[in-house]
Order: sequence, then C-alpha cells, then structure tokens
Amino acid sequence: MKRTAITNTVTYIEPDSMSNFKSCAGVVVSGSARIFLDVNMSKADTLTLLRSEPPDMAFISHYHLDHVIWGKLVLEHTDAELFIPEGEEAYLGSLDELVQKTAGSYGLIPEWTDFIANVIGFQGLSGFSTYMPEDRVSAGHDTIQCIPSPGHSPSHTSFYFPEEKILFTGDMGIDRFGPWYGWADCDLRELVASALRLRALDVSVLLTSHGGILTSDIEKAWDNGLRKIIEREQHIEDRLHKGKTRAEIIEQGIFFRNKSEVMEPMRSFLYMWDSYMLDQHMTVLKEGGLRQFFPEFKTVIYTEKRK
Ligand SMILES: [Fe+2]
Repeated sequence: MKRTAITNTVTYIEPDSMSNFKSCAGVVVSGSARIFLDVNMSKADTLTLLRSEPPDMAFISHYHLDHVIWGKLVLEHTDAELFIPEGEEAYLGSLDELVQKTAGSYGLIPEWTDFIANVIGFQGLSGFSTYMPEDRVSAGHDTIQCIPSPGHSPSHTSFYFPEEKILFTGDMGIDRFGPWYGWADCDLRELVASALRLRALDVSVLLTSHGGILTSDIEKAWDNGLRKIIEREQHIEDRLHKGKTRAEIIEQGIFFRNKSEVMEPMRSFLYMWDSYMLDQHMTVLKEGGLRQFFPEFKTVIYTEKRK
C-alpha cells in the first residue's frame, strides 16, 4: 500500500492493487481521534494498519464491496465503531440480501453469489452503526463533514474537510473510467446533481477512490467526468436514431468495451452492468435527456460534436 501525507494529520492510502473490485483508496485522519474512511486495502495490509494504528471510528462511503470488506476486520480486530450511511443497512446484513438487491433482478444470482462469497469474500456484516447526511465528525483540528452524494448508490457519501479544503469524493468517477451507474438502484440524474454540488465546493485537494489525488484543475476534472456521461447519452441517442437494438448498443458498450473477450463469469457481470447503465440513460432520454434537467452546465459540458 502507498501512503501520501496530505497534511500533518490527513493521509491518503492506496492499495497495491484494485483488481477484481476488491479494494479502493481511503483516508486516515490522525488527530485527537483516529478516523478511517474507506480504508479497504488487501486483507493483509488492512490488518497491519488496523493493528499499528487502531482507529476510533471507521466510515464506509457506500455499500459497494470494494469499499466494504475491511468493515468486518474493523469489528473483529479493533474497538472502533464502524459507520455506514443511513439507508444502506439492508444491503450489508447478509450475502443473500445483497445479491437480491444487486444482481437479483438481472438473473445472475448463482454466479454473483459465488463471486461475492468466494472471490471477494463477503458474508454479511453486523454490528455497524449508521451516520446521517450532513453529520460532522471532529478529530481535533480536523472536522469531517459527511456530504450526501447519491446516484452512484442510494446513500453514497463524500467527506469534506472544510478547514483544509480537502474533499474525499468516494466513487464519483473522477478517474480515467468516468462515473459508473451500473446497478438498478443507481440514479443517473441524482449522480449528475451530486457531481455538480461537489464541484461547487471550495476544494484545494481532491482525493478519489480510484483515481488518485488532484491538486489542480479540479473543476476541469469534474467537467471531464460529466462530459463522459453526456457523451454516453449522445452515443446512445445516435445509435437509437440509426435503428440499433438494445442488445447491439450494449454489445458496443456503454462503460465496458470488448466484453466478449473477457472470461466468465466476469463477462456476464460486465453485460449486466452495461445493461443497467443503458436503462439509466433510457429513463432519462424518455424525459428529454440530461440537457433537459441540467441546462445550467450546457455551455460547459455539452460537446457540439453530434453527427
Ligand atoms: Fe462504488
């Protein structure tokens, strides 16, 4: 794992690998209390960290498994209170419940259950507490404000340090892949609204779950993420105008390209996620498209490349 000191008390921590959706980057705050945010490294690295720098409180940004697995280690190996965002409790109580609420409606229950249980290693979580939107946590000099940023997941939360102007985005898609909304419980319109709200914050250091650290061109990075969404919408609209079928649009890719070359069961998961992402766009397009809802960023975000 790689540690980067952001201030005397705030450290950004990245795992050695993010393959197989098993880990993400997180933040350790070491003030009058030690607070961990999404510190989901490999099992060995997480345990090392929990033993050498035991937290007082541990926060999870949202229920997706690449942010959650460390929670069980926190409960088993430390005295810390583990917090998840209010509204996502039902996802984490049991493996079956999580599967039903994610791949359940798509019909990949056996494959997804096997993957979660045996590749990712999730069996359900109990003994956690919940935090509320806008909760503030103090660790001496540092105050951490929980900023609701739904859309990527129902209660997805970002963490803002107002004094230092640091924002830990969580999974807002400020990375080379762009925003992701591949479950039925995602909400594309909410995600865009969340991104615009976060973009308006006064931020000097942007810490992301999968895209590293940004200290310059932060608004531009948000615009790039938003532009990726708009380009997907335009791509889908163009394909529809050309008479392409749903299957053909998914095959060409919304988020994931070259899916047919990937080994099973991951290939089926990629088709599932792109299918849900297409659903999100179709819902918004039926109501006039994103430009209908977010005219205020039209001049910033919309490209004029439509053919
Ligand atoms: Fe996520």
